[in-house]
Amino acid sequence: MYKDTIEGSLHIVGGDFSRAGEASTELKRILHEKGIDDALVRRAAIATFEAEMNIIIYATAGILRYTITPEEIRVIAEDMGPGIEDIELAMQEGYSTAPDWVREMGWGAGMGLPNMKKNSDIFRIDSTVGEGTTVEMIIRIKGKEQSRED
Ligand SMILES: Nc1ncnc2c1ncn2[C@@H]1O[C@H](COP(=O)(O)OP(=O)(O)OP(=O)(O)O)[C@@H](O)[C@H]1O
Ligand SMILES: [Mg+2]
Repeated sequence: MYKDTIEGSLHIVGGDFSRAGEASTELKRILHEKGIDDALVRRAAIATFEAEMNIIIYATAGILRYTITPEEIRVIAEDMGPGIEDIELAMQEGYSTAPDWVREMGWGAGMGLPNMKKNSDIFRIDSTVGEGTTVEMIIRIKGKEQSRED
């Protein structure tokens, strides 16, 4: 493991819109502090924000874990359910089960998961109904000094 690996985790409470954006803002701050390229920080922040919002809107509770190495930004958002029945459908642009009151707040365009995928170099989603959903997103850092021969 790299000596300059930064790891952390943040709890997200389902339904708590008052704290929406806290986890992604915290990650953004850390990435800026590390001097990571603005475009990469933006991608990571967008992807993390969408993951965070989905937990707030759809899940009972979740945890967001991040690992930052000189090579990559890795974000894992894991929640405690209800899970997604049809992942392929959920991944489609425009698909949303958001109720009206959520749409009135400006959410529910069905673009969160597609945007997470777009902004990640590696995107994985795994879900079990009754158990929960885990989304893993990796954004590669392609800095000159930070690259490494494999
Ligand atoms: N963590 C989750 N737990 C349960 N269901 C989820 C979760 N994340 C997404 N979903 C389901 O997948 C659908 C699509 O999610 P996506 O984030 O793409 O769109 P949205 O949240 O509905 O709208 P937007 O993200 O544009 O505000 C959701 O409407 C919901 O049915
Ligand atoms: Mg969403």
